[in-house]
Amino acid sequence: MPLRLTLLEDLLLRLNLLPAPLLDTPLAPGIAKALITACEVGIFDALSTHPLPLNVLAGRVHCDPCGLQLLLHVLVETGYLRQKNGVYRNTHLSQRWLTSGSRFNIAPYVVHSPDIVTIWNHLPEIVRHNKPAMRMPYEDDASVPQTQAQLERHYAGLAALATVMGREPIARAHVPANATALLDVGGSHAAYSQLFCRKYPNLHATIVDIQPGIEAGLRTAKESNMEERMSFVCADIVRDDFVTAASMEGQFDVVLYFHIAHLLQPDVNEAVLAKVARALKPGGVLIYVDQVTDRGYYMRLAALMVQFMALTMKTVGGTCYPFATVKHWLENVGMGQVQQYRMLTPLATMITGVKQ
Ligand SMILES: C[S@@+](CC[C@H](N)C(=O)[O-])C[C@H]1O[C@@H](n2cnc3c(N)ncnc32)[C@H](O)[C@@H]1O
Repeated sequence: MPLRLTLLEDLLLRLNLLPAPLLDTPLAPGIAKALITACEVGIFDALSTHPLPLNVLAGRVHCDPCGLQLLLHVLVETGYLRQKNGVYRNTHLSQRWLTSGSRFNIAPYVVHSPDIVTIWNHLPEIVRHNKPAMRMPYEDDASVPQTQAQLERHYAGLAALATVMGREPIARAHVPANATALLDVGGSHAAYSQLFCRKYPNLHATIVDIQPGIEAGLRTAKESNMEERMSFVCADIVRDDFVTAASMEGQFDVVLYFHIAHLLQPDVNEAVLAKVARALKPGGVLIYVDQVTDRGYYMRLAALMVQFMALTMKTVGGTCYPFATVKHWLENVGMGQVQQYRMLTPLATMITGVKQ
């Protein structure tokens, strides 16, 4: 963990002799900012192949050596870098999670995280009035450069997270062996579709999203040489009858509904799921992944993250739902055998149903 304590400090903390709130603020947001800056500047990538002395590193990342050194000190103390004889190297932590050559790279999500922090700026309004205080940028004008940049960060961050965290649902979901057609609802960056297509060589993925999301998905398709195996449909999943418009009725063996539910109100979710269910063949599988509020928490970290997600989504007009609510929606739209899967991945619960 970035906050590393000595045994003595840990003991003092447990005995309530250290002012713990000061670790949460300002220390934690300060560490977060140092980490984001390091990713934006490119420190971990610059050190990914060779350790470097300060002056060489400063030249590589185009920074002032004295200014950079202040940041490097923080990164050493938080366990992201090691320094010996004036030479800096990545630790295992940063090399695995924060370098673009690693298949576990989540640096794009770290760079996206200030957009999430902006949502939390509205926390006092939520607490006082319990009403949405802002909206997600999906409906904003994507031709405005600031919105465009925000959406690009968003999709890149989600794609990185999907690539790293998506392995578990893909490993556990039961996709029919003869499946050929997958529909990824709100699938934008197409990283989940890519993982499914890799695992099931006969699968073709159709991704439905708004135009900026599709642009992110097209990049994934190109970079992964999967252009032949992915199609994109631009539609508003809430307002459009995209299933009829794109002749999708009864065409799909598998439908993904990943991290969509938390954006929508209950009645809207049920209405979108009703369209989605129409797109499935009888016996087809709907796979739902999202934060589920009443999952049995055997990890404190997962519990904390789900509560944060519920708070965040409330701010932007959505929320997180319990399993019973999701099961009710799925059964109402004609799905049977609804079951949930406990996963190790924090934040994710998978629920599946089979079209009757
Ligand atoms: C939280 S992201 C989830 C993306 C992806 N399914 C995942 O799990 O990483 C929500 C996705 O829904 C898309 N979306 C939101 N509202 C939409 C709408 N009304 N019509 C189509 N797509 C929408 C967004 O563009 C985005 O790709």
